[in-house]
Amino acid sequence: MRKKIIAANWKMNMTVSETAGFLEDFRLDIEDVNGVEIVIAPPFTALAKLSELLGGSQKIRLGAQNMYFEMSGAFTGEISPAMLRELFVRYVILGHSERRQIFGETDALINKKVHAALASELKPILCVGETLAERDAGKEKQVLETQLKGSLAGVTAEQMLDVVVAYEPVWAIGTGRNASPEQAQDAHAHVRAVLAALTNAETADKVRIQYGGSVKPANAAVILSQPDIDGALVGGAALEPRSFSEIVKAAVPQ
Ligand code: 13P
Repeated sequence: MRKKIIAANWKMNMTVSETAGFLEDFRLDIEDVNGVEIVIAPPFTALAKLSELLGGSQKIRLGAQNMYFEMSGAFTGEISPAMLRELFVRYVILGHSERRQIFGETDALINKKVHAALASELKPILCVGETLAERDAGKEKQVLETQLKGSLAGVTAEQMLDVVVAYEPVWAIGTGRNASPEQAQDAHAHVRAVLAALTNAETADKVRIQYGGSVKPANAAVILSQPDIDGALVGGAALEPRSFSEIVKAAVPQ
C-alpha cells in the first residue's frame, strides 16, 4: 500500500507572518488526521520559520520549492541542498512546469538536481506534465516519457523509492480546469509504466505519483480514488488552511 502524500506548493505566496497564521489554524484542522503524509513547501524566506514552528513534527513535513545542485559557491540567488538539510527539509520540488517554462529549466539540469537531492537525503518531488498544445497533438505520453527519462537518468531502483513523481498537466495548473479522473489515471498509469521500464515493476509499484492541477476540496476525493493516484500537489487551494485540510482529509484511508 502506498501511503498518500498531499503537498502544498505555495509558489511565490505567503510571508513569514502569514505562514505562522496558516500553521496555527491548519494544525487544529488536521488534529485527528492519520495515515496521510502532509508536506508544506513555502517560499525560501519562510522555511526557517516554518521549520522552527514545526519543531520536527512527524505529521507535517517541510518541503522546498527548488534548489541548486551545488553545495555552496558563487551562485547568486540560489539555495543549496546543505542549506535545506540544516532546516530539516525532507522534500524538494524539482522541475515544476513554472521552473521549466519561465526559468528555462531543462531535463538535464533537473537531472543534476535530482542526483544532488538524493545525495543529500532530500526526497525529490519530480514534476512532469504536458502543455495543452502537446496534449492536443496527442503527444502527452511521449512528453512524459522524455521528461521522466531525462530527469531520472542514472537514478537506481533503490534511489527511486525516495522519489515522488508529480504529474501536473500544464493546462490544468491555476486554470480551474482539472484533468478528468480518467485522464489523470491514464497519465499516472503511463508514468508508472515508464518508471517500471527505468527500474523494474516491483519498484515502480512502490513509487508514489501525485496529481497536480486545480485540485480543490470539491474534486479531491474522486481524483485521489484512482488506482494510480497516490496524492496531490496543491497550489492555489493550499493557501487557505481550511481548503488544504479538506484536501488532506480526502486522502485519509477509508
Ligand atoms: P494549482 O493547484 O493552483 O492549479 O497549482 C498546481 C501546481 O502547480 C502545484 O504545484
